[in-house]
Amino acid sequence: VGAADFAVLATCLVGGYLLGSIPFGLIFTRIAGLGDVRAIGSGNIGATNVLRTGRKGLAAATLLCDALKGTAAVLLAARFGETAALAAGLGAFLGHLFPAWLGFKGGKGVATFIGVLLALSPLAVLGFAALWLGLAFALRYSSLSALVASAATPFVLWALGEPRAALLFLVLAALLWWKHAPNIRRLMAGTEGRIGQKG
Ligand code: G3P
Repeated sequence: VGAADFAVLATCLVGGYLLGSIPFGLIFTRIAGLGDVRAIGSGNIGATNVLRTGRKGLAAATLLCDALKGTAAVLLAARFGETAALAAGLGAFLGHLFPAWLGFKGGKGVATFIGVLLALSPLAVLGFAALWLGLAFALRYSSLSALVASAATPFVLWALGEPRAALLFLVLAALLWWKHAPNIRRLMAGTEGRIGQKG
């Protein structure tokens, strides 16, 4: 990797980070006059917790924008090649999880994971969506559905003949699981909130 290539990759990583660090859930709930979404439910800034305010439209907008910032980061970087696109996707995910503006305390990454995946492999998003929806309808735990679907994603990508994306998503899934540690503890204790339950 030459100096110019390195500069491109670093720019894509940092650019992705900046896009990913926009906390849409926080912004939308503030604009709607609902105060700080971090003060309710799980304290997370993601769509699942925005839904606990009872505002379905705001939750849908949060899911969409937190996903699309990941998609946009990858697509903007793709003109510089696959490695640049993967770097931008990693940056966007890290930006959502660790936004500098929020003291590096960001979201849990599910929407941005889906958005980055959409740009790299739309087919793999179908697999993610099928698993997530199936589990969510059956059990009504947003976190459990995301944990299972994210863990399956690297294998789906591998099976689709995308080894580099599979490796990236192994890292993203590991980070997503790590950020869900409190959810995993609540799931095991039987105290995790169900989808739509108000916080
Ligand atoms: O997207 C995060 C979801 O899996 C769990 O969110 O608010 O229940 O911790 P939450």
